[in-house]
Formats: sequence, C-alpha cells, structure tokens
Amino acid sequence: MFSIRILTAALLAGTGLITAGAAYATPDWSKAASRTITVVYPGVSPIEWIRKGVDHSGARGMKQGETCVNCHEKEAADLGQRIVTGQKIEPEPIKGKVGSIPVKVEATHDGTNLYLRFTWKQPPGGGPKMDPDNEVKLAFMLEAGKVELANLGGCWSSCHNDVRTMPGVKGDKTKYVKDGSLANGVFYDLIQWQSKPNKGRDGYIADKRVMEGGKGLVEAKGEKKGDTWTVTFTRKLSPNNEGDINLEPGKSYNFGFAIHDDHTYGRYHHVSFGYKLGIDADGDLKVMKQ
Ligand code: HEC
Repeated sequence: MFSIRILTAALLAGTGLITAGAAYATPDWSKAASRTITVVYPGVSPIEWIRKGVDHSGARGMKQGETCVNCHEKEAADLGQRIVTGQKIEPEPIKGKVGSIPVKVEATHDGTNLYLRFTWKQPPGGGPKMDPDNEVKLAFMLEAGKVELANLGGCWSSCHNDVRTMPGVKGDKTKYVKDGSLANGVFYDLIQWQSKPNKGRDGYIADKRVMEGGKGLVEAKGEKKGDTWTVTFTRKLSPNNEGDINLEPGKSYNFGFAIHDDHTYGRYHHVSFGYKLGIDADGDLKVMKQ
C-alpha cells in the first residue's frame, strides 16, 4: 500500500499536478474582515434616474456627498421589496422573486492575493430562465476613484437607461461609464463567476463591458451545500495589466457586487450599494494582511 502511494505521488509530481495544486493557497478565513451586505432588486433605477431630483429625492443628498449606503442600508430589504413587487420602478415584476438577499462577505489578503468569499442562502426560484445555462452568477467590481460617482454609488455609475434589457431598449448595448477609458484609469475592474461551468471571467467596464483580457483572477469557485451558496475568488493584488486595478496597501477602493439569481440576466439581478474595501486601511471591509 505504502509503496503504491509513493509511486502515485511520484507520477503526479512528474505531470506537474502537485505543484499546480500548491499555487492556490488557502487563506485563514478566521482572519478575514466580514460584513453582511444586503443586495437589493434595483428595478429600473439607472444612474440617470438616480441623479434626477424629481424622480429620486436622494439626488440632492448625493450632490452633498451622501452615499447610497448612508440613506438606504438600514432599510435595504424594504426598498427591494417595494421594487420587486412592482410598487415602484419595476414595470415587469417577476412573481415569487425576493426583493433582497443578505450576503456574508469576507475578505483578506496575504501580500500576493486578495481572497473574497460570498455566502448566502438560495432564495425561492421558479422565474423565467433568461440565462438557461447559469443558475447563478456573481460579479464584483473594483474601482480606484476615477469613475464619476463610484465613490458614492458603487456599481450604479455603470447602469444606464439605454443598455440592453432596460424598458424600450432594442439594441444590445452593455454597461459603460461616462468618459470610460482604460488609458485614463476611468473604468471598473470586473470579475464574474458563473455556476456553469463553475469558473470566473476577468474583464472591465470602460466605454463598454469586456468580459476577458484581465490578468488578476487566479481562481473563482462556487458550491452549493444544501440551500447555501459559497463563492470564493482568489485575485492577484497587483496584476500590472491595463484593465486591472493594482490594489496597494494603505489605500481603499470602491467595491460593489451583484448576484444574478435563478437564471436571470441583464438588469434582473440583485445589486449591492457601494462599499469601500480598505487594503491594510480603513474601509467598510478592512482587509488586513495575514
Ligand atoms: C440623501 C439620501 C439618499 C441618497 C444618498 C440616496 N437615496 Fe435613494 N432614495 C432616497 C429617498 C428618500 C427615497 C424615497 C423617495 C424617492 O423615491 O425619492 C429613495 C428612493 C430610492 C429608490 C426607489 C425605491 C424606493 O424605496 O423608493 C432606489 C432604487 C434608490 N433610492 C436607490 C439609490 C441608490 C442606488 C443610491 C446611490 C447611488 C441612492 N438611492 C442614494 C434617499 C437617498
């Protein structure tokens, strides 16, 4: 028995499988920053709506630097409920969908990689299968302070009234940001995990959304145990690549994420407000080196 095991190990080492395995370090999650963040069903609330005082009374507060979190975090579940039921800004409510999902978000780093783990309970489903392949997708964005309003509103600056799946839109335009430009650093770094084939894509949003070319993502993996999803990302702190943000110790970055639950696509997702990820620095999540 013993000799067979040695032989197997030697064979694996020969194929390089053992060294490849060692490249994915597992962090000590007990040392991670942790926060429960509620993602909400946003209905039709593109940044144009958010900024218009007659539609959204928060617009004035935003001009004075108030964040969505300041005004909405405590009542996030109620806000999602008003929208998902069609009481507000949702012309096509999907029956049975929940208005919000509380997600446990954990973050840590080891000087080489950022580790992010998202855990939530699968809400009831049964809506139309817009994306038949993927039961669930989870995407997060990082931003270094150049996208207009990203410091107040997380991902909302990429959401516009003329993109695909918005009411009345026929084209296939994807998310974008005002004056988006990789060369000028005006972009969101975007990483998405898909349940099928259980892996990640690494892209960005500048003048349009691009789902490839990123060099930051090391691994994205998800699993469902019982009714609980856990999705884990390993991402290089400093990919040194156009379209990827280098995360520097002592600085904080804008962060937001979204879940496409129950085979949805486009705008039919649940979205977080904007948070700050501090790398060895203050933030809504203080991500300290372990
Ligand atoms: C200064 C406080 C304030 C800020 C900042 C603010 N809001 Fe609001 N928001 C409100 C108030 C008050 C309402 C309800 C009345 C209304 O619709 O104007 C509201 C309504 C909404 C609604 C409609 C659903 C509902 O419950 O009425 C959405 C969606 C929304 N806000 C999203 C956001 C997002 C996203 C941000 C950040 C980009 C944001 N808000 C920033 C105060 C704020």
